[in-house]
Amino acid sequence: MVQQFFLDEISRRAHAAVHLAEPLALTDLLTPALVLNRPALQRNIVKMAAHVNQYGKGFRPHAKTHKCPLICHEQLNAGAVGVCVAKVSEAAALIAGGVSDILVTSPITTRSKARVMAQLARSTPGLMCVIDSMAGLDVLAQSLSAEGQMDVLIDIDVAMGRTGVRELEEILRLAAKIRSDSRLRFRGVQHYAGHLMHIQNFVERREKSLRLWAEVTATVDYLAAQGFASEIITGSGTGTYNIDVEVPAITDIQVGSYIFMDEEYRQVRTAEDTRFTDFEVALTVACSTISQPKPNRLTLDGGTKAFASESVAPVSDELANVVFHFAGDEHGVLLLPKGEQSVALGQVLQFVTPHCDPTVNLHDYYWVQEADGLIHSCWPITARGCVW
Ligand SMILES: Cc1ncc(COP(=O)(O)O)c(C=O)c1O
Repeated sequence: MVQQFFLDEISRRAHAAVHLAEPLALTDLLTPALVLNRPALQRNIVKMAAHVNQYGKGFRPHAKTHKCPLICHEQLNAGAVGVCVAKVSEAAALIAGGVSDILVTSPITTRSKARVMAQLARSTPGLMCVIDSMAGLDVLAQSLSAEGQMDVLIDIDVAMGRTGVRELEEILRLAAKIRSDSRLRFRGVQHYAGHLMHIQNFVERREKSLRLWAEVTATVDYLAAQGFASEIITGSGTGTYNIDVEVPAITDIQVGSYIFMDEEYRQVRTAEDTRFTDFEVALTVACSTISQPKPNRLTLDGGTKAFASESVAPVSDELANVVFHFAGDEHGVLLLPKGEQSVALGQVLQFVTPHCDPTVNLHDYYWVQEADGLIHSCWPITARGCVW
């Protein structure tokens, strides 16, 4: 099958750390470069693990954020119950890097993807997927061999309108169909309300999220009353990580961005109405200043091929008064306030990413910075470009 070519290519990708013979200073990086601050990453992982523990919940971090098996292992070592991926090819990349408990959070409806899932599940019984339609379920069942097995969650939508099934009767029909096929195992439900994650006001975010989860809980109870008990009730994200843990039914939260943080999340407000700094910025893009067309403008070597953004611009925490403007694919421009002298040509500067997940997908490696401030290793972004 045509997919075999891609699966073979993905399985050959690098997934081990490359240790540098000589540690590198940030100023010696070949820019643009994605810089991962390992101590900050570690603190974020430990903080999330302690948080969910306190509420008797699990965490199933979303690896679509980092696309890196090495980071999955750090999260699993800290107690994650498994990881999520958005796409089948991401699952293939993580499996190649030794990760085995993986939930694919986007429904699969085509034969090509269902066949890949079935093939991956043969070597990885911890692989699970979500379905939200009878058509998807049929395709999945047709792709499994007689001895094939697949664990399945039903994706439930309440208000987002992206993926997930809404009607109770349809949910029940899906559960019954799963049970009728001995190769499939009903494990529970997923509900993700991405449209709430960046609501600025905490009270509004909390009310809306808990309201949706009350509906999901009612659905879960209904399913259980019909004989379909959910062992896994998963969902949530960084924006509601400290809200949804209050929901008794939830078993684990699918937090993604918390490990890196980005500017979009930093602009969200906390319960105390402060900036969302519950987790540290562990990811930046280092760029160099390469030209100064006017005294108040410095051009950087990073544009839309180095940073992904749907709204906000990259931000430098060191240069609070300096504004970044995108200036095309390859460049950004810093507008300097009058008298700003702290930045000059040939400097390497770090910028907080506007949106971490799609920014990661633009780079091949993390340049991993340790507590001494130096870069000691490179970690491959194994699932880079795995978008199917
Ligand atoms: C299904 C699903 N779960 C969890 C997440 C994680 O969200 P966040 O990065 O906001 O933590 C996402 C992100 O888009 C998602 O699509």
